[in-house]
Amino acid sequence: MINVAVLGYGTVGSGVVEVINKNQDIVNKRAGQEIKVKYVLDLRDFPGDPVQEILVHDYNIILNDPEVDIVVEVMGGINPAYGFVKSALEAGKSVATSNKELVAAHGAELLKVAKNNNVNFLFEASVGGGIPVIRALIRSLTADDITEITGILNGTTNYILSKMSAEGSDFDSVLKKAQEKGYAERNPEADVEGYDACRKIAILTSLVCGKQVDYQDIYTEGITKITDTDIKYAKAMGCTIKLFGTSKFEEDKIYSMVAPFVIPTDHVLGNVNDVFNGVFMHGNMLGDTMFYGKGAGKLPTASAVVSDVVDEAKHMGKNIMTIWEEEKIELGNILERKCKFFARVKSSKADVENTFGAVTYVEIPDVTDEVAFVTDVISEGDFQEKIKNLDLVSRIRTTL
Ligand code: HSE
Repeated sequence: MINVAVLGYGTVGSGVVEVINKNQDIVNKRAGQEIKVKYVLDLRDFPGDPVQEILVHDYNIILNDPEVDIVVEVMGGINPAYGFVKSALEAGKSVATSNKELVAAHGAELLKVAKNNNVNFLFEASVGGGIPVIRALIRSLTADDITEITGILNGTTNYILSKMSAEGSDFDSVLKKAQEKGYAERNPEADVEGYDACRKIAILTSLVCGKQVDYQDIYTEGITKITDTDIKYAKAMGCTIKLFGTSKFEEDKIYSMVAPFVIPTDHVLGNVNDVFNGVFMHGNMLGDTMFYGKGAGKLPTASAVVSDVVDEAKHMGKNIMTIWEEEKIELGNILERKCKFFARVKSSKADVENTFGAVTYVEIPDVTDEVAFVTDVISEGDFQEKIKNLDLVSRIRTTL
């Protein structure tokens, strides 16, 4: 029997207990032995919930119990999660976590601690919610040189953008719905400002390089400046707006960023809507591959966490090799990254053409007091310099 302790009985923690209970037979069969939740740690009490019988408020009870084989950390945030996880690994317990903040900041170190103690530190749910993207990347795509990862990596913002686009709903009311559905972070700024997607692309990029990519180095822009008018322009172009986390691996440089992009609806990620995430990767042998599924929410996320528990149960006493060293990678300067831009300006077409040369204009019926256009491919730095000549309303990068 494998004894599990779950740290945190919030949305994901209660989902983990539910998945293990509901799918007991199948989980036990696949783990090769019985998986039992021995403890749940939370500061709160849950009167009337059967979890109350196994609830503890003191982490040391779990840490000092030699019967606990696997610790599931689903508390979120760096502290106290970091200390709890590290001490569990040092005590010879494997850890499964959904905590992207923790993994992005300390993943390399915690993998090393796991290896030194012959246990495992797995974090499938930290990127893409229920989509098995990390296991695929590090255990299946091992024959390829990955040249690009581009993903819709945040369920909350994708839900907001999808509803704004399909139903014309306003930002605040859709965000509230996303919170009610358990998609949003405790502080939704992490979703809407792109910080959550930033940590996720940092994790994926680190795993591709096998070295540390600091999320603080990744240029990050959220969706708070996207307006109804931007969405109308996108529709007029046969496009949609999506928040991308993207890394391009070019010869000796890696360009990573998080930002909204105007993309054609027939782009591989163009129909990834609502809470779904999509992760596109290109390998030099495989070509394009794409992963799709629910990127947030109680049961999809818990499903990925429990899949790690099963994997750890199957690898008791054996460390699964994951290459992610603490040595830091310097990212390429984002000003050198090239793409097209969709821009709206309060300037004349003559000024636009004097500045950018030939552009493609976009018009929508109800907006007549501005000029909207798509540039040719241009570096971020050049665009920033040139746009200073015009009276900018807004700009969004585009894959057009
Ligand atoms: N707030 C996150 C999201 C949860 O919306 O994607 C899953 O990581």
